[in-house]
This record gives sequence, C-alpha cells and structure tokens, in this order.
Amino acid sequence: MASKKGVALVKTKTLNEGKNGPSLFLTLTFRGDRKEDPPVDYPARLWENTGAVDPAIKVGSLVMVEGQLVLYNNEQQIRLSRIEPLKASEEEIAAFIPKSRVEASSGMARLREYMDSLADPQLRAFGIEILADPEVAQLFPRAPAAKRNHHAMVGGLLEHTLEIMAMGDAVAPILSLNRDLLLLGLFLHDIGKCWEISPSAGFSYTDEGRLVGHMALGVEKCTQVARRLPEFPERYLRLLHHFILAHHGELEYGSPLLPATPEAMAVHMLDNLSGQVFAMRQVAAGPDGWGYEKNRGAFIYKEGSDLSRLDHTPLGKGIRKVFGP
Ligand SMILES: [Fe+2]
Ligand SMILES: [Fe+2]
Repeated sequence: MASKKGVALVKTKTLNEGKNGPSLFLTLTFRGDRKEDPPVDYPARLWENTGAVDPAIKVGSLVMVEGQLVLYNNEQQIRLSRIEPLKASEEEIAAFIPKSRVEASSGMARLREYMDSLADPQLRAFGIEILADPEVAQLFPRAPAAKRNHHAMVGGLLEHTLEIMAMGDAVAPILSLNRDLLLLGLFLHDIGKCWEISPSAGFSYTDEGRLVGHMALGVEKCTQVARRLPEFPERYLRLLHHFILAHHGELEYGSPLLPATPEAMAVHMLDNLSGQVFAMRQVAAGPDGWGYEKNRGAFIYKEGSDLSRLDHTPLGKGIRKVFGP
C-alpha cells in the first residue's frame, strides 16, 4: 500500500462522531511535486487519539503528517498514523495556498477594458463605477471563485470571470445577444464572492457569507453603486439583479429564480461551462488514465483531453464566414 508523508496545510477539519467511534476528517493541501505544479488536496482521516489531537490542529496552519493512501468511495484518502502541528511564517503558509495564473493588475485592467467597451453609456458608467468601488478594487483581484470544486484559489474569481467574459464576447454576436448586458452580467454574477469567502488559507466562509450568501451580497453592492449614479434606470438595475439571482440556473442549485432573459441563460450556461471544465481538469488520473470526480459522481478519461493527439480545425474562421464580420 502506498504511503504519504510530508508537510501539509490544514484546509478543513471536522470531528465526526460516527458509529465506529470519533474520527477527525481533514482536507490537507500538499505542495505539487515540482515547483511549478499547483498544490494538491487530499482528504485525510484520523481514527486514533482524536480527542487529544483535535484542539492542537488549526485550520490554516501547517502540519507534519504520515499515513497510508487508501481508496475510499473511489477517491484516494490518507489514513493518518501521525499528525503534528508545525510553527510556520505567513510566507511559508502562503506557499500552500493555490494562486491563479492571472496576474491581479493586468486582470483588473482587462476587466476595465471590457467595461470601457460597453456601448450603452449608462451601463458603461455603472461598470466603471463598480470597478472603482474601493471594496471591489481591493477584494475582487484576490477572491477565490469557490471554496472548492472550481477556481478555488487566490485570484480565482478574476480568472473565472475573465474566462466567461471572453466566451461571452465571442458568443454574443452568434446568438444575437445584447453584448453590454451579457458582459456586465458575467462580470457581476459572482461579485458577492468578494465578501462571502476569505482569500486566506482554507478559503473559509465569512459571517456575512454564511448569513447572507454571495447572490444577495452581490445584489446589495449593485444597488449601492446604482444609487451613486444620478438617474441610473431602475429597469437596468433590475436586469443586473436578475443576472446574479438566476445564475445558478436551477432552483435546486440555490438560485431563487430561473433565468428569464436569453442573456441571463447565457450567463448561467457560460458560468457552468467554466466551472465544470475546471473541475474535470483538476481530477487526478490513476495509472489507467481515468480519474473520479466526486461532485458529479463521474469517471473522467484524462487521456481523452490530450491535445497533442487531437486534430485541430480552425473553427473560428468558419464561424466568421457563416455569421458575417
Ligand atoms: Fe455563484
Ligand atoms: Fe461563477
């Protein structure tokens, strides 16, 4: 049986009072094998001596661990035989927190370019005003897009947002969508994550995140910003609110509303596409080339995405031919 040993960051911790006795369930983040590799999360479980160990292990701190790798519910899990707290500096801890490949200042500048490019003067003014909001300017570049599953990294919200805005920009003329509304909806859909999730180790939910949630927090910020603009049309504000409130697409996924405009449907679909593809990519492959994505309960064929084996067709040119310039 393979073993796992080394320094890890405690990302989450729960004490389970199961029928086989108490156990400590942790998510541990290890650094990638090579310097350029992103940190990797492993679920881990401790069965022995949990009562004594529990208080010494803090979320967001470093630990020295040792254990056996076992397959549990199709997923690799570490059965811990040893876990000890380590003293570490802020910088040492930061090395275990995943970071986006998008650089903060150039990413925010790209966002500003998108807002400057909006044709409607009132929507453009709104986009520029919300980007200049001191809280947004400070929090947006560092916020993670999620606690886990997709773009769970410092700057993940910015990367995820730019990804879907680039897709929206491409898709708008093909589907005859209103580009201004679509781009603004994509920018704003998850803006509430700035206040919902902390960008420090563990990406824990804030009190306001748990009490209010990212949709309501986003709606609140949009209302605040709209009130600063004299004569910002109420109807526009309602359309922007709708993008946020309907972006999860289904009532059972936490949206209070179903998308009611084609642009709101596009925001939901592009958001979902970005999240799903990211989640598939971060699944680790086993020796047979297959991995398992726990969230969807789906097996992922990692080798099926090996681009070097695929034939590339320049789709972009063809599309322009069909739909005109
Ligand atoms: Fe969301
Ligand atoms: Fe999103």
